Amino acid sequence: MVLCAGKGTRMKSAQAKVLHPLLGRPMAAFPVARAREAGAQRVTCVVGHQAQAVEQALTAVFGAGTLSFALQKEQRGTGDAVNAARAALEGFSGAVLILYGDVPLLTAETVKRLVAAFPAGKGVLSLVSCKPADPTGYGRVVRQGGKVQRIVEHKDATEAEQAIGEINAGLYVADAKFLWGALAKLSPRNAQGELYLTDIVAQAAELGEVAVVDAPAQEVEGVNDRAELAARGAVLRARINERWMREGVTMVDPGSTLIEEGVSLGNDCVLDPQVSLRAGTVLGAGVRVGQGSVLSGSTVGDGTEVKPYSVLEDAVVGPRCVLGPFARLRPGTELSEGVHLGNFVETKKARIGKGSKANHLAYLGDAIIGAGTNVGAGTITCNYDGVHKHTTTLGDGVFIGSDTQLVAPVTVGDGAFVAAGSTVTKDVPANALAISRVPQVNKEGWTSRKK
Ligand code: UD1
Ligand code: CA
Repeated sequence: MVLCAGKGTRMKSAQAKVLHPLLGRPMAAFPVARAREAGAQRVTCVVGHQAQAVEQALTAVFGAGTLSFALQKEQRGTGDAVNAARAALEGFSGAVLILYGDVPLLTAETVKRLVAAFPAGKGVLSLVSCKPADPTGYGRVVRQGGKVQRIVEHKDATEAEQAIGEINAGLYVADAKFLWGALAKLSPRNAQGELYLTDIVAQAAELGEVAVVDAPAQEVEGVNDRAELAARGAVLRARINERWMREGVTMVDPGSTLIEEGVSLGNDCVLDPQVSLRAGTVLGAGVRVGQGSVLSGSTVGDGTEVKPYSVLEDAVVGPRCVLGPFARLRPGTELSEGVHLGNFVETKKARIGKGSKANHLAYLGDAIIGAGTNVGAGTITCNYDGVHKHTTTLGDGVFIGSDTQLVAPVTVGDGAFVAAGSTVTKDVPANALAISRVPQVNKEGWTSRKK
């Protein structure tokens, strides 16, 4: 169960806290992913504030039907939130893992250790604690003779209790039957007037020993405001970058490299400073990505070089292509092997064959281009007539001279040659020369006469 219903007042945001993105995913996706990795058979997310948006965002990450959602109508505290999931867990007996949606740095290892510590038969609850440098704001673990007695929230703690360094990390495994009974006994008589989930700890301590697993302080740091959001983001980023470096990716400046979750990188990729690889990006082996480039949802074949400041969005790029600097590949771009797209070349829904080149200043939209074709500088596919989009088709081995406009729908046959400066409005047969510009006239001595 992942609690995602809170508003997150301290974010001072129109958007629910758990929706704020970290590395391209809503914050709540992190604990959900960790629960699944640790072997949770089903995951129920408790939603409330902006319930629909939270449900949509998590479904977009994990796929329809993989998670269930329970609605907490009013946010009356973490205990009330868990209770809201009761119907969703109807008929379930056994261990319930409870996580908070605002703790993104948690690792699956810690979750697994917590599950393993669940004292089946001996007790009804296990939890995670740690000793951060500054325990302010967290619930404190109160022990007596070494044994956990209860948890007291910071706002309810006495001065002596506030001096306790051991804090409640906010994840638990509880026996389902105990859990529902304990929740029924919660009361909102506390500083925040809420039903605290943490009050079940005292009840569990009366029934048996509460097992405690310790965790590195960094893992359990939550997100309560934007400064914490950025700090947790930096840790996640460093973790992902380190993992890829150990997998054989060179990063010239890992501190400025942003790789989201859901990216896959081959060996010997080289990432220059300030590269962003967003979700869905797949790079083959030996791909070099130049400084300042941003790739999302794109697949890039082995040995391709993306020169600096290029932007690729939902594009498929073959092996050994050369792109940029300043190339812009928009959705639906599909490049075969060895294609070159140079500076200030924009493509959209363009399928370009093996070894074809457009090296300077072009717009190729709704285009099908064969192999070995050369598109000259300044070529534009005029694909839009103000109402509809039309296709430009260029065959194999075509030469398009500089500053050509191809007014779609139009087809240029294999081996045809379009003279520079032409406006092509009619199909060009294979191997023909098309020329549509005004013939040049030289007027001898014209400038001296003018003076
Ligand atoms: C909670 C714990 C505290 C612990 C800390 C660790 C309680 C009472 N306190 O405090 O002991 O040290 O986490 O980070 O549990 N939520 C709901 N519905 C609600 C209220 C909250 O779904 O009615 C969700 C929030 O969306 C959030 C999570 O529960 O994801 C935790 O709530 P939050 O208010 O942040 O609890 P803390 O004050 O941080
Ligand atoms: Ca919190």
